[in-house]
Amino acid sequence: MILNIRNIALALLLVLLVSASVILWRVPVIEAGAIVHSEDLSPGELVARGEYLVTAGNCASCHTTQDGAFMSGGLPFRTPFGTIYSTNITPDPLTGIGNWSDIDFLNSLRHGVRPDGDHLYPAFPYTAYTKASDDDILAMFAYLKSIKPVRISPPQNDLIFPFNYRPLMAFWKLLYFQPGVYEVREDQSEQWNRGAYLVEALAHCSACHSPRNSLGAERAAAHMGGGEFLDLVARHHYRPWSAPNLSATERGLALWSEQDLADYLKTARNDMLESFGPMNEVIINSTRYLEAQDIGAMVTYLKSLEAVPEREATAPGPEIMGRGRTIYNLHCGTCHLPTGEGDPDMAPRLDRGSLVVQDENPASMINAILYGPHLPSPPLQPKWREPMEDFQYLLDDEEVAAAATFIRHSWGNASGMVTADQVARQR
Ligand code: HEC
Ligand code: HEC
Ligand code: HEC
Repeated sequence: MILNIRNIALALLLVLLVSASVILWRVPVIEAGAIVHSEDLSPGELVARGEYLVTAGNCASCHTTQDGAFMSGGLPFRTPFGTIYSTNITPDPLTGIGNWSDIDFLNSLRHGVRPDGDHLYPAFPYTAYTKASDDDILAMFAYLKSIKPVRISPPQNDLIFPFNYRPLMAFWKLLYFQPGVYEVREDQSEQWNRGAYLVEALAHCSACHSPRNSLGAERAAAHMGGGEFLDLVARHHYRPWSAPNLSATERGLALWSEQDLADYLKTARNDMLESFGPMNEVIINSTRYLEAQDIGAMVTYLKSLEAVPEREATAPGPEIMGRGRTIYNLHCGTCHLPTGEGDPDMAPRLDRGSLVVQDENPASMINAILYGPHLPSPPLQPKWREPMEDFQYLLDDEEVAAAATFIRHSWGNASGMVTADQVARQR
């Protein structure tokens, strides 16, 4: 636990704020009888609908560990305030949600509140799920109650004081959390609204693709403008990944056609490239199971996102470009070709094809070079003749930085220099 004068002063201030927030704000939990049902489904239909929605919400990626039982929790999430563990959401009555009522479950997804009234941390993206309809939330609950119960408790959260004090979240919520069902935009098509609902209320793309402020809240003004995600690579070792700008900028999603994006979400690859990194889980556990119509709706919505412009990139000098070109031609050009246009059997194009290469934050691009892009095969058939090796031992920080800088400023790319420090951060 880190305790210094600044933290103590901050803590005292926060305790004051808590007292204020408790007085100011009562949790607007849902009362029995207030549930809105718009359709009547048979129990079987309800469970099937719930399974589809739980897949669209990708609950499994966070609630199932690599060797743990399905939905039994225990996955750690590192935040600037410490580590939070996902919970057991199997229907075990003691350690899971087996004893929960419909109201309890609704309150957790809609309001981020536990049955005992405690606030949940937004590492659980209820900031997105709050937008799901009552029907859809209860269908998810029906499905979760149908899966195999598992008796296991996640490890205790390890948060620094005062963030380990759950009532504090009342204040955070007051500032950053807007509970409530998705509101249909009458000026948009049905397809667009369906896409917005899937992306914002379930798939929570913005949890990774939006920048966050110092208190961990998504910055609404830069929605989908690019964010960062910490991936657990070994015990207590996390690696930052940049999640690129999905808004309509020339370096963001304007780079791809609707078909490119639909293929990528449905099949983990498109004409240009194949998924690697944290997107593998999003696609393999979630989006590939979605109906073509739903993928189409998500694409319509995503392609309509208003541009969140990147900062202008400073161009590198001729010396670093020359050094980068030499490294590139020696180690990369055989597959990606000296022109950067790629080869359908060997490697994807690096000239204005990949959002990762155009990203203002080079973290994910550096990871691809240092550790090799980890492709989703299996379960997919391999696409390339041979995998790209990892360069972590072959190239030093400066060499990786030079090669990355060269790629980011050649063939029409203009996405910013990469420094040796930025590479060192990814080691
Ligand atoms: C990005 C990771 C992430 C995703 C995705 C996610 N959860 Fe969670 N969930 C968590 C974490 C972390 C917690 C623990 C929060 C805390 O301790 O305050 C949690 C807590 C919960 C709780 C509260 C359990 C309790 O005992 O209080 C429920 C219910 C829940 N999640 C259901 C779901 C459902 C349903 C989905 C999919 C629609 C889902 N979660 C998706 C990370 C996630
Ligand atoms: C868990 C965090 C996370 C979530 C959730 C997430 N993304 Fe990503 N996304 C990333 C990261 C990190 C990258 C860059 C590395 C990679 O491709 O895995 C990325 C890359 C991308 C790319 C560019 C791929 C490329 O190679 O150029 C697209 C397009 C994309 N995401 C779309 C989406 C959509 C649409 C959703 C919601 C359905 C989504 N992402 C949800 C983290 C996430
Ligand atoms: C053996 C052939 C081969 C060599 C050599 C190679 N790559 Fe790759 N590279 C690939 C393949 C295959 C992929 C496909 C992964 C994908 O599409 O997700 C890839 C993907 C990438 C990506 C991610 C693009 C994306 O999908 O967003 C980057 C960046 C990259 N390579 C850079 C480099 C650099 C820099 C070097 C040299 C230091 C290099 N590669 C050497 C085959 C190669």
